[in-house]
Amino acid sequence: MCGIVGYVGAKEKKEILLEGLSELEYRGYDSAGIAVIENDKLTSFKAVGKLKNLQEKTKNYTSSGFGVSIGHTRWATHGKPTELNAHPHLGKYSFVVHNGIIENYQEIKKGLQKNGVNFLSQTDTETIVHLFEQNYPKEQKAFEAFEDTIKTLEGAYAVLLISEVAPDTIFFAKSGSPLLIGFDNEEIYFASSDTPIIGKAKEVYYLEDGEYGYVKEGKVILFDKGGEKSFQTKALTLDKISAQKDGYRFFMEKEIYEQSRVMSETMMGRLKDECIDFEEIDEAFLEGIENIKICACGTSYHSALASSYLFERLAKIPCSVEIASEFRYKEPLLSKNTLFIVISQSGETADTLEALKMAKKGGLKTLAICNVDNSSIVRTSDRSILTRAGIEKGVASTKAFATQTMVLWMLSLFIGRIKGTTDAKIAKSEKDAMLHIPKALLIPDGLHEKIHRLSKRYLHGHGFFYIGRDIFYPLALEGALKLKEISYLHAEGYPAGEMKHGPIALADSKLFTIALMPRSLHYEKIKSNVEELSARDSTILAISPCAFDLADDFILTQHDSHPMIEFFEMMIITQLLALEISVRLGNDVDMPRNLAKSVTVE
Ligand code: F6R
Repeated sequence: MCGIVGYVGAKEKKEILLEGLSELEYRGYDSAGIAVIENDKLTSFKAVGKLKNLQEKTKNYTSSGFGVSIGHTRWATHGKPTELNAHPHLGKYSFVVHNGIIENYQEIKKGLQKNGVNFLSQTDTETIVHLFEQNYPKEQKAFEAFEDTIKTLEGAYAVLLISEVAPDTIFFAKSGSPLLIGFDNEEIYFASSDTPIIGKAKEVYYLEDGEYGYVKEGKVILFDKGGEKSFQTKALTLDKISAQKDGYRFFMEKEIYEQSRVMSETMMGRLKDECIDFEEIDEAFLEGIENIKICACGTSYHSALASSYLFERLAKIPCSVEIASEFRYKEPLLSKNTLFIVISQSGETADTLEALKMAKKGGLKTLAICNVDNSSIVRTSDRSILTRAGIEKGVASTKAFATQTMVLWMLSLFIGRIKGTTDAKIAKSEKDAMLHIPKALLIPDGLHEKIHRLSKRYLHGHGFFYIGRDIFYPLALEGALKLKEISYLHAEGYPAGEMKHGPIALADSKLFTIALMPRSLHYEKIKSNVEELSARDSTILAISPCAFDLADDFILTQHDSHPMIEFFEMMIITQLLALEISVRLGNDVDMPRNLAKSVTVE
């Protein structure tokens, strides 16, 4: 989703901004822009589409010498992805970039229009720069004008503003959307996550909600509602965790193949000979916990849903799961004996972060399962367990889902052990199964090629139903989501036993059923459900270790000893199927239309 970079100093600013924005590219965007003030002169460039269009437009521009600069990649929320709607937004003498949503922008806009302000874009962001310029003439004090502006805004924002009236200054503010400041002596950087500044800044400060201020002469002056405040920076990692495709066609493909290896990393040091241990959590933290509530969005929600079966079955602890955007507004009843778990690959998902804050406010113990250290969700929760998937660049999440599910499976056994509710024999057989997971995730010779060949039959039709039972139902949801995201075909995940209660009415030869048929969990039940669909002429692709005559297409799986081993093996097959269908349809696999990797708006 939208990305922000900023820089104050004497280096070539265009390069710093474009490099920084390219580090944020994988998060998804549809236009980009930069603005620079040097020698008291404002310059800006914007372009729709990929960053290379902006690079092309700026190729004859250089900006050496001291100056201030801001850049942005935009994922459209208010108004189409056009050049006018791209950031930075210009007033008469100032530029602003913004992530988040200004909820009261209509009201502010009306007031400004009454005063004769002309708006060029359809965005909420443009109100910020006009409001600043309306406030400035009152006292001719730029910071006070910025402070008044920020105090008027409602909603979520990370904002950088530069102005010809203070040509050596960047004004900044954060509430709800991530923003950080990087330091390398007198050089100051801004970014919406740390990747753009790794290798440039040595120290970092992650702004808290409600903080704002300005940078001038190599110094950051920070405020919150209590007035000016001091702050502590911390060392920024020096390793650039950049990801390359390593010979694969797409990041998503590479990430699918990486899953075997990263799952070993997820288990490392946690899966011990005698038990499962998480150094991030101690017994005291779980004291008084009688149930679990998990909140997440999208793929992370599917992982949560799968784990709810495991928490109840293996740890014997009641577990409920909620979509974060629903949870936020349902006026939930929270009780202090609930462990509140949030799951997020990026650690920046606005809905999940807000749900977490609500739980904290309600006095619940909170735990984040996350892939990004230092992310907003990790910093906000009481405890966090990192999934160790490594950077995930494909917008369609694959290895993040696998590692989240692995952590949650381990966590169910860990909690069951601490609470004394998991039978030792069961714990041992689950642990043995875990050790098989890296092997089950190796893609056998010929499987990918088979899925590639098979995929040509699944490019049309009037829809897909992915069906499964028990933990294979969340996997069906996830398989359908993967297909939707990158093929743009309509797909639904459904509990297999529920089809006859309505959706079976859709069954005909053009309805594709992807049937997840594990041997180790309710095989006979799912088999009957698939037979019901076959009898109504639905085209069936069965994924199973057991031969199934009624399938039109069949993918034979290798492992059948344990439901979770079958789960992960089938997960890979559904991921490869989505990938191959998307490739055949000529879509952008890694950056599918309309999607963002880090969803920082609600
Ligand atoms: C799907 C996908 C999204 C995310 C969702 C939550 O492939 O990536 O559905 O899972 O936006 O994101 P995180 O996990 O970063 O909170």
